[in-house]
Amino acid sequence: MTHHTIVPRLKDVFKDSFRIGAAVNDFVLEERKEVLAEHFNSLTAENSMKFESIQEKEGVFDFSEGDRIVAFAKENNMVVRGHTLVWHNQTPEWVFYADKDKKKLASKELLVERMTTHIHTVMKHYEDTILCWDVVNEAIEDKGTTRLRDSLWYQIMGEDFIDQAFRIAHAANPNAQLFYNDYNESDPEKSDKIYETVKGMLARGVPVHGIGLQCHWNLYGPSLDDIAHAIEKYASLGMRLHITEMDVSVFEFEDRRTDLLAPTEELLAMQAERYEGFFKIFRAHSDAIDSVTFWGVDDAYTWLDGFPVPDRKNWPFLLDDKSEPKPAFWSVVKTLEEK
Ligand code: GLA
Repeated sequence: MTHHTIVPRLKDVFKDSFRIGAAVNDFVLEERKEVLAEHFNSLTAENSMKFESIQEKEGVFDFSEGDRIVAFAKENNMVVRGHTLVWHNQTPEWVFYADKDKKKLASKELLVERMTTHIHTVMKHYEDTILCWDVVNEAIEDKGTTRLRDSLWYQIMGEDFIDQAFRIAHAANPNAQLFYNDYNESDPEKSDKIYETVKGMLARGVPVHGIGLQCHWNLYGPSLDDIAHAIEKYASLGMRLHITEMDVSVFEFEDRRTDLLAPTEELLAMQAERYEGFFKIFRAHSDAIDSVTFWGVDDAYTWLDGFPVPDRKNWPFLLDDKSEPKPAFWSVVKTLEEK
């Protein structure tokens, strides 16, 4: 591409289909102001709205980084997705224990009380600014026939913890759209479990409005068929769908290679082809999908740098480390012309 090429804004390209979002932290917000305002119209806090960031110590709430994200979003006419209220990770241990020495688990009553206080305080704080929350994150078990993950939320409250979280969130802000969010969301077995879980909630009258598909994918999986089937299954429940944490690793999950210092042309071409397939599916289901969020902004920083292989760089996005369009960017833009 020469510097004369006009780069379309992603948010404009997809304005009739869905919002385009990015997960941010303080550093990215500071370093990538321009590209964020250019291409994105939705933000998610990468970490700063998680339980351990907001209420590390019981009763002491810190909204500082979250507030900076909300302020930036407001200045730039962006939506903010709230992420996340109830999760087994990045949640301080005190939440689950009755005593300071963490010898005795909290009773169900105590945990419900803490859940209620946390959800109410956070949702009220962002009452006018965040109208969409990932209420429960990653509660479904990946393997086997077990449906729910054996977390401390589950051990203490039983399977009811999911329903309770949504009912509490709905009471805290009846105007908010409430999402169940998970990864491996396109795996046929796990997506059945997600589907059954949400279907059960609807049957019990639980206020759930959407399913978040994290979409941490790679060059080799999941297959386009599995993705389309999962989306159709979730949409058949009448749920709004958000793609919440998209990235496309250039490595298969089991691949431990560490020799690559930059992505090869071949990998970039494969990535472009994959992204094109994904966005064709998203566009075909844009009546159900409201938002597509990447778990980062550009290849300069991704949580995949160092995960699952320590110190290994990855290049999972549409924009390169200087925020310039990659082949994948152009292949995604092209899907618009083909509808
Ligand atoms: C999960 C969580 C996200 C984030 C990613 C890894 O998908 O939902 O908040 O922690 O893992 O960065």
